[in-house]
Amino acid sequence: MRILGIESSCDETAAAVVADGREILSSVVASQIDVHRKYGGVVPELASREHLRQIVPVVREALAQARMQLAEVDGIGVTHGPGLVGALLVGIAYAKALAQALGKPLVPVNHLEGHVHAVFLEAHQAGRTPKLPAVCLIVSGGHTVLYEVTPEGHGAGFRYRKISQTRDDAAGEAYDKVAKLLGLGYPGGPMVDRLAAEANGAPAPVKFGPTKTRGNALDFSFSGLKTAVLYHVREHCEYGAEILAREAALARGERKFEQLLPLCSPQTLALVREFQNAVVRDLVERTMVAAQELSAESVLVSGGVAANSQLRATFEERGKSAGLEVFFPSRALSTDNAAMIAAAAYFRFRAGCLADASLDADPSLKLA
Ligand code: KG4
Ligand code: ZN
Repeated sequence: MRILGIESSCDETAAAVVADGREILSSVVASQIDVHRKYGGVVPELASREHLRQIVPVVREALAQARMQLAEVDGIGVTHGPGLVGALLVGIAYAKALAQALGKPLVPVNHLEGHVHAVFLEAHQAGRTPKLPAVCLIVSGGHTVLYEVTPEGHGAGFRYRKISQTRDDAAGEAYDKVAKLLGLGYPGGPMVDRLAAEANGAPAPVKFGPTKTRGNALDFSFSGLKTAVLYHVREHCEYGAEILAREAALARGERKFEQLLPLCSPQTLALVREFQNAVVRDLVERTMVAAQELSAESVLVSGGVAANSQLRATFEERGKSAGLEVFFPSRALSTDNAAMIAAAAYFRFRAGCLADASLDADPSLKLA
């Protein structure tokens, strides 16, 4: 069964064809980063307009790469939430029109369930299957949430229970905000990731302790950490000149790692590493505690921040010493894509979850 997946919940217009929920026949992602960069974040109105421009060529390209005609598609899976309402509506309207015109089933997909399936898609390519129950951390620019994943009968795939979530910023949002205040460009995650690796032995100019959350101790919180970085930078005037120099470089379009690295002092590199240490420590610590409390068989990590090299290395290490297998998607499947939506749609379809022409966007759709 070949499903065409369509994703337009945020700032990526994506389409993919996946066979039987496991075999990626094509995956095309049109990123809007260049459109939103000068605003330092996603502008919803611009996102919707870009999706409108991109959706037809992106779907066409996904079909071409899979060497298929539209009529050969067996079903259409589309993200109907959570996300930006105007952005979601573009994908939904297009998917509905295709499904009606072709007389094919339309399957609504929760974007977060897509991220879970990204891990299984990747594992499948390597001939592995994560054992359940699992603890799944979804960590991106919009979400930081832990779920317990257990098997569900009737071919639907999985059942979810929310364990905890962020009380304020998502981890990716903290990366983006810290990068912005340090003059490191947008999005901040990939740049901070690479710069942190360059800190070598430089001593940390400030120490960020573990974040404690009252109530559910497994909840996350990143806005205090972001504010701590801001105060530290404000209190130390030596950062000022290099931030201005980097902002000037960014304004000239010099935003590559090789161009910004020489404009970063060892103190800045050490600050960036200390920030990343704190984020990674909190993410890994809480996930591993949850996994132990629930006697999970494996740990799944997905979403844009799952591309982070230190997060991956730390999870691998901790998983090994705890005797738990840790699974990540490849970097391409970590960030938003439609292959994960098509995969999730396959299992939803098998469970009989179909939508009709009344399908609407649900910007705050929950997974559990
Ligand atoms: O999943 P995604 O593509 O979109 C959302 O649903 O948000 O995630 C994007 C987020 C951004 O905040 C970006 O800075 C972060 O993921 N990100 C990273 C890395 N690559 C992307 N954060 C840390 N390290 C990375 N290597
Ligand atoms: Zn996402």
